[in-house]
Amino acid sequence: MNDMRYLTFALGKGRLADKTLELFEQIGITCEEMKDKKTRKLIFVNEALRFRFFLAKGPDVPTYVEYGAADIGIVGKDTILEEGRNIYEVLDLGFGKCRMCICGPTDAKELLQHHELIRVATKYPHIAKDYFYNKKHQTVEIIKLNGSIELAPIVGLSEVICDIVETGSTLKENGLKVLEEVCPLSARMVVNQVSMKMENERITKLISDLKKVI
Ligand code: PRP
Repeated sequence: MNDMRYLTFALGKGRLADKTLELFEQIGITCEEMKDKKTRKLIFVNEALRFRFFLAKGPDVPTYVEYGAADIGIVGKDTILEEGRNIYEVLDLGFGKCRMCICGPTDAKELLQHHELIRVATKYPHIAKDYFYNKKHQTVEIIKLNGSIELAPIVGLSEVICDIVETGSTLKENGLKVLEEVCPLSARMVVNQVSMKMENERITKLISDLKKVI
């Protein structure tokens, strides 16, 4: 009987999880039952490797990892920054590349240069606050939204937004522009701090295998 402990992975649901599984396949880690799109199962096991995988909402991934319910998480850098959990970020997986930006109509650019008290709509209040308060030293009012952030400056809820830009087409189709860049983003692997010590050999091997195919 294999009594090796399971190494548990929390994957951010959706495209991130699909890309992660593709990458894992390249290093010989497969999970057939997870590929079944119709399944309502939440947890999947690779018995031979003693790996367990589950899908979670992106913002919950760092939570599972911090508490040790998952040893390893795959999640966007945006979520890592926003959640601010005590976890180790160990690897940039190189996919899901995009940028966190301050965006708005062209004429809002001026408002960013004179420390005006403006309103910033965002799904990422911590990232926005850190950027305006600690980097720009500009006092702003942050308005938390849950999606379709580009609407805010169009309907007059805010002057600018702090949001993810990938291709830039959402901005373009709504007459908005990137005014400033906050930081680059991509998918990252995160590790629980205790797991990193207790399962160091398996985790280090996983990281070095992944580095070869990234
Ligand atoms: C994200 C982001 C932008 C868009 C950027 O939204 O918030 O709206 O994608 O992509 P683009 O630069 O390629 O156009 P998402 O589709 O995740 O939905 P949301 O608006 O509900 O956050």
